[in-house]
Amino acid sequence: MNAVIEAVESKPDVITDRSKVPSVTGGLPLLGNAMQLARDPGKFFYDAYRENGPVFQTNIMGKKWLALAGPESAKLMGSAEGKTCLRSKEVWEGVSKEFGAKYSLVAVDGDIHKRLRKAFQPSFAKGAMRGHYPAVIAVTDDEIDERWESGKEVSVVWAFQRMATHQLGFLSNDHVPSGYEEDIRIAVRNMIMVRAIKIWPEFMAHTPSYKRSRAVLHDIGQKLIDRYHERKANGFEGRRTLIDDAMEMHEADPELLPASDIIQVVVSPYVAGLDTVANTIGSMLYEVLACPEALEGIHKEVDALFAKDEIGEEDLTPKEMPTLHRAMLETLRLHPIAPLAMRVANTDFVYEGVQVKEGELVYMGYTVCHYMEEFFPNPMKFDIHRPVEQYKIPGAFTPYSRGPHTCLGKTLAEMQMMLTMARLFYKLDMSLPEGYVFKKQTFPTPGPNKHFKVIVNGRRH
Ligand code: HEM
Repeated sequence: MNAVIEAVESKPDVITDRSKVPSVTGGLPLLGNAMQLARDPGKFFYDAYRENGPVFQTNIMGKKWLALAGPESAKLMGSAEGKTCLRSKEVWEGVSKEFGAKYSLVAVDGDIHKRLRKAFQPSFAKGAMRGHYPAVIAVTDDEIDERWESGKEVSVVWAFQRMATHQLGFLSNDHVPSGYEEDIRIAVRNMIMVRAIKIWPEFMAHTPSYKRSRAVLHDIGQKLIDRYHERKANGFEGRRTLIDDAMEMHEADPELLPASDIIQVVVSPYVAGLDTVANTIGSMLYEVLACPEALEGIHKEVDALFAKDEIGEEDLTPKEMPTLHRAMLETLRLHPIAPLAMRVANTDFVYEGVQVKEGELVYMGYTVCHYMEEFFPNPMKFDIHRPVEQYKIPGAFTPYSRGPHTCLGKTLAEMQMMLTMARLFYKLDMSLPEGYVFKKQTFPTPGPNKHFKVIVNGRRH
């Protein structure tokens, strides 16, 4: 099952003729497979993999794209070959241009990417939360008290987007952007839809509301830079955050981090973490409320957790909070926010007998295994008793992508999600509306759709 990447000359039986590569069936005239992909990308790739194997062609609005899917594609992304033969530049560079930036972590490859990633790793890791658990709880409680009223229905995605925005602002830059949540959401949404996924037309990057929101995001970044200079003049009072890393790096190596790139760096946690966290915990809330056994187990764990005087990352481990942690893993498996990645072939290579040409855009369907019986028996079941070994099978579990661009914030995101959900289940007695059927949206980020509501029956604490 290993990915095969070899020089074409050494393999005379390599398929170079694209008419010999299977095409996904079920498309519509003109639209091709666009609707199937838009409806449920995870299912689309799973079905296509079962029908065609690890390499197939998709037709999106009349244009054929190659897809590399299944465990083979996950392994390829995580391998040394994958590092050489895949790049991200063209996929994400439009987002950096929205900030007028030269480089951005997600849109740069090779040595510069490696250096930037190493420099920013501490600010994006769970260590950024260390010593600040009470403050993150306070930020979370403020939102619970304000938006999750007893006796009311709460729009889950909206409420979690606000909460994640406040938490990320606090964690990354010691700045809670109260009053600007909607601008941040719109700026991030339009950038991703127009510049990364590229399914919204160009004019959506020029609407007055987007331009206003993007200006607000820039303004937040500029104010953080100004605050850095004030803090520097005052001997750096207060806590060290991402802006300190960015400014110091700029001062030490303006080639690697030019002045034009600083704003983009300091607001990047919103671009990378807002919808990803909000949608994942939105799906998790649904799954737990739909599973009485999980809810009961979590209530016991969180009551014990918050009976302690102080809380730190050692209290949120899989060992200490097994049910909550399993619920998070199962959510990441069943509802990945990035069921596939787009990449560009960095060189000619052969994958599973098919030649891929340098410069070609490919879809990497690496979460297909999340739904495969061979990896996760009874795969569509939200099962908090799954042996943990199942997630560890090579290529099986890929919620954070693989390879050089693997999510840099994953340890921080997991602590943020564990703490947020622990606090929510501790504070509130919630239930799903009678007969509710979970409905998903795909864009800009897959997750529950905006109509998903839960009922807050009352406070537990
Ligand atoms: C449930 C939460 C999250 C999930 C599932 C997730 C998933 C991902 C995925 C799939 C990618 C790779 C994109 C690609 O390969 O093209 C990525 C990249 C990234 N994520 Fe996350 N993410 C989450 C939360 C966060 C948070 C909270 C932050 C920061 C505070 C963050 C920071 C980043 C960064 C900086 C990258 C770019 C890494 C690089 O290109 O080297 N993520 N994330």
